[in-house]
Amino acid sequence: MDDKPIDKEEILNELSEFHKLDYDYADGRILGSMCTEAHPFAKEVYCKFLDTNLGDPGLFKGTQLIENEVIKSIGELLSIENPYGHIVTGGTEANLMAIRAARNHARKYKGIVNGEIIIPESAHFSFKKAADMLNLKIVEAALDDNYKIDVESLKEVISDSTVAIVAIAGTTELGLIDPIEEISKIALENNIYFHVDAAFGGFSIPFLRRCGYDLPVFDFSLEGVCSITVDPHKMGLAPIPAGGILFREEEYLQVMAVDSPYLTVKTQSTIVGTRLGASSAATYAVMKYFGKEGYTKIACNLMANTMFFKEGLEEIGYEVICEPELNIVAFNHPKMDTSVLAEKLEELGWKVSVAKCPVAIRVVLMNHIKLNHLKELLEDLKDIY
Ligand SMILES: Cc1ncc(COP(=O)(O)O)c(C=O)c1O
Repeated sequence: MDDKPIDKEEILNELSEFHKLDYDYADGRILGSMCTEAHPFAKEVYCKFLDTNLGDPGLFKGTQLIENEVIKSIGELLSIENPYGHIVTGGTEANLMAIRAARNHARKYKGIVNGEIIIPESAHFSFKKAADMLNLKIVEAALDDNYKIDVESLKEVISDSTVAIVAIAGTTELGLIDPIEEISKIALENNIYFHVDAAFGGFSIPFLRRCGYDLPVFDFSLEGVCSITVDPHKMGLAPIPAGGILFREEEYLQVMAVDSPYLTVKTQSTIVGTRLGASSAATYAVMKYFGKEGYTKIACNLMANTMFFKEGLEEIGYEVICEPELNIVAFNHPKMDTSVLAEKLEELGWKVSVAKCPVAIRVVLMNHIKLNHLKELLEDLKDIY
């Protein structure tokens, strides 16, 4: 730190030099991000609530009501009237809370000490962090030929130590939806906690269904589903950080509660203590601003872009890994190594993301990637071919 105060202008100049090194969503070159530029109105609201702290909700009763309203509205999208949950920093923290609830619940009611969680090979790496922090063993369920959980493989790995089963509604790499209805039944039959990670799909599947896409049910209408992660800072166009965790029962929050002596509330269930109210306020604003109609338009437009891109790739001769269910396309060149193709695209200024399972170039068609960017990208891919 400098000894003397520095003029605001000078500080801003310094910061903008750093900022220039960042990529800008608006350039349409960021191909692999599941976040995008937040809506300007959400950013405006976010700034107004920057000093609110939901870690001490007795001091911020209004903002606490906003968080409750947001959880209720997201719950309505996910077919539950009275959900319990929080707006947290993102999918990682939401998944961590779900797994912590499952572990504590299994410890309290079933006496499971060295627990295991079953996740698909396609699960986001946040579950590895959760298992590490919560001292749980990860057991992977295999995927079928369509890169979704193989239900038979899942059944085989259930054991007396299983504290949770996880399935994904919108996988990180391919945007696919696991057979959640079937898994919900299996979870119920075996009396096992079932968490659905819809961090990516939660803000698009309900809207795509509204405009006629035949997508499977993934939400609380399935009796076995205990919790769902859904991130406003991905397809919800809310500013970072905004993740959502919704539970079916209040008990799942209670089994995580610890005493919080010096605060205005007696207990706290969230991982984070001091917690931004701005995320809830901005999510509230953007959800009201778009409404179901607005989100449906966005989701359908992005799917149209997705199909345009997929068909363009196939016309050139690229191999598309699977029929997109959500707005992600993964592809390979029939002969060129994926890493070579990625390098060539990077040289042309595209910020490329490479999937691991299977290895492929992965493009997430977020709101910042417009049709003109896709046309440019297809032109470059044609030249490379
Ligand atoms: C399915 C899924 N779950 C969880 C996460 C983690 O979310 P975050 O990066 O907001 O912590 C991601 C991130 O892309 C994701 O795709």
